[in-house]
Amino acid sequence: MHILLLPGDGVGPEVTRAARTVLEAVVGGAQADAAAGGTDARGTAGIDITFSEADFGGAAVDRTGSPLPHETLTACREADAILLGAVGGPAWDDVAREQRPESGLLALRSALGLFANLRPIRVPARGVDFMIVRELTGGIYFGQPRSYESGRAYNTMVYERDEIVRIARVAFREAAERRGYVTSVDKANVLEVSRLWREVVVAEHAGRADVALAHMYVDNAAMQIVLRPQQFDVILTGNLFGDILSDVGAALAGSLGVLPSASVGAPGATPLFEPVHGSAPDVAGTGTANPIGAILSGAMLLRHAGHAAAADRVDAAVHAVLERGPKTPDLGGTAHTGDVTHAILNHMKTAETVS
Ligand code: NAD
Ligand code: IPM
Ligand code: MN
Repeated sequence: MHILLLPGDGVGPEVTRAARTVLEAVVGGAQADAAAGGTDARGTAGIDITFSEADFGGAAVDRTGSPLPHETLTACREADAILLGAVGGPAWDDVAREQRPESGLLALRSALGLFANLRPIRVPARGVDFMIVRELTGGIYFGQPRSYESGRAYNTMVYERDEIVRIARVAFREAAERRGYVTSVDKANVLEVSRLWREVVVAEHAGRADVALAHMYVDNAAMQIVLRPQQFDVILTGNLFGDILSDVGAALAGSLGVLPSASVGAPGATPLFEPVHGSAPDVAGTGTANPIGAILSGAMLLRHAGHAAAADRVDAAVHAVLERGPKTPDLGGTAHTGDVTHAILNHMKTAETVS
């Protein structure tokens, strides 16, 4: 399995490094350290991983003038999976829209056809365990026409039937493997695009007796996630609503720094794994970025590649460390990125010795 790393900007490289270290340890044990050059990890778990890295985001803008250089996109298509850090930051806030680091991320999702973004939110101590299934390549992020003129600007929130069908199928499939309950979130009381969304989701649900479906307006959903998050199993929603609601969900976990995500498309599309958080300019360079979102994204990568046992080991170690510490400052602690990463590695080693 060849993994392409896109570290990006701000805390991106810091958390990507941590995730790579954990992946190398879980697939290779001690042998990963011994591998020549440290780029090839093969070992006890029977998983063979190689890594390479490419320019992306603001770092790529500075070097090449584009946030998503051609060579990077080619490398993405050729990889088996992508592990991304984060992009953006104040240094690139005033550049033209096509050259913004964020535009590179949107272009990458679109070019690879990664229409489904899976964002799990788990807080075991509070009985919170739900998955946001966010449509990722349509809606108001990509809708035409769009324009910025002086004194007038607009975007278009548009969905085609087929775009709704395919994301609804992902949500129903996810729910069938979980607790079997989908909440579709929209704004059908105001928006035509949401009326179509709801109609198509209802039609798609007709053949799925194994999954229950409910609908909720997005404003209420924001409140319900804060007030009674235990009611949710799978939240199915569009691009913009999913972006916002996942950060609301992060508050339940205590920090944006701990949320992972997976972006997937049609068979053959290279899947992309990335923490939900951004480049955290206020934390970048302090050595205290929380690496857990990136590390859990690595676990999602392993699970997606069929390595469930390895993914379970990472998940278990992360949840033990979330309970006992050490914690980075975003979670109220004083630990550094490396302290948390080492605690996770140690927990994996100990669990291995016990089993
Ligand atoms: P952000 O996610 O970078 O930060 C929001 C808050 O969460 C900040 O207080 C930050 O310190 C904290 N935080 C986030 N990740 C953390 C981590 N790993 N450890 C500790 N604390 C963490 O969002 P923002 O401040 O709105 O945006 C900053 C930049 O990141 C912008 O340029 C934005 O466009 C970009 N961004 C990129 C992505 C991405 O690459 N996927 C996602 C969101 C934002
Ligand atoms: C996210 C981010 C991105 C989004 C930005 C950086 C384009 O906020 O992945 O949640 O809005 O999708
Ligand atoms: Mn976001």
